[in-house]
Amino acid sequence: MKLPRQFYQPLAIGAPAPLRELPVRLERMIHFVPPHLEKITAKVPELIRQVDVVLGNLEDAIPADAKTAARNGFIAMAKATDFGATGLWTRINALNSPWALDDITEIIASIGNKLDVMMLPKVEGGWDIHYLDQLLAQLEARHAINKPILIHAILETAQGVNNVEAIAAASPRMHGISLGPADLAASRGMKTTRVGGGHPDYVVLADAVANAEAAREKFQQDLWHYTTAKMVDACAAAGIKPFYGPFGDFSDPAACEAQFRNAFLMGCAGAWSLHPSQIAIAKRVFSPDPGEVAIAQKILAAMPDGSGAVMIDGKMQDDATWKQAKVVIDLARLVAAKDPDMAARYAL
Ligand code: GLV
Ligand code: MG
Repeated sequence: MKLPRQFYQPLAIGAPAPLRELPVRLERMIHFVPPHLEKITAKVPELIRQVDVVLGNLEDAIPADAKTAARNGFIAMAKATDFGATGLWTRINALNSPWALDDITEIIASIGNKLDVMMLPKVEGGWDIHYLDQLLAQLEARHAINKPILIHAILETAQGVNNVEAIAAASPRMHGISLGPADLAASRGMKTTRVGGGHPDYVVLADAVANAEAAREKFQQDLWHYTTAKMVDACAAAGIKPFYGPFGDFSDPAACEAQFRNAFLMGCAGAWSLHPSQIAIAKRVFSPDPGEVAIAQKILAAMPDGSGAVMIDGKMQDDATWKQAKVVIDLARLVAAKDPDMAARYAL
């Protein structure tokens, strides 16, 4: 095990010091852009006003013969745009692919000082993070990058799920982890053909009633509950951020919203938006509900030092509900600082 003092040493002479705390940023949606398509990258200046994070996708969904064009398109887009407070991320190709090394080296060399986060797919264990951590430190030193580039892992293999705690704690560069339900389904041998969401056959049946003619009620279950919970605990314990990943059925915004909301309630900070219609869904879901914010404010106001117990509207509040209220209010303040409409609705 690496000792704490060494954990926070730069991994290359001349690389910036690793961060001890993550930057506090609102990241309700990570919006995916295919950077080889100029008609889409042309809209990025408009997009950055609507989203919290823009991600140039170089991995899956980019055809093999467009990988270089996507990398070059991402670099050109990053150079040409002032992202202001909007995060700039990229999803590179997997470490065992023919493209990963050029993705990493060319991006850091050309736009390393603009990039906030590098998303790494198909992470199997801490060793994948250690490799990228070391390489990024060498490249940061070579190219005089002044702040550490953070790593975001995708949890999308059975082995990755087994090792999620080690992945979350592998490096001070770890920003967070996203659940990748499509690759994970394949890796686990799940019998589905979808990108995220539920399945009509994954159900429990209501008990049979003797001699009853009526069809038994079916209750659809959440295929992603176990993995989301495991990921949230690993991330929270390591002080990094968990995210739900993609929802592929663009024609079903209600199901997308339900999936996002489950993730939000369980502790996730945001989700991916793959289609412009999912931006508003993520914004709505990952900004706390004004009714909840009002209750949280009441709790904080009733317990100014966070100790003791009070009754509010018949419900007991104590130190633990005070802490929950603080989570909601801290997030609401972050949203309010960015969005004057929400600030007015929160009355903060
Ligand atoms: C995302 O990359 C996924 O595989 O779901
Ligand atoms: Mg994937």
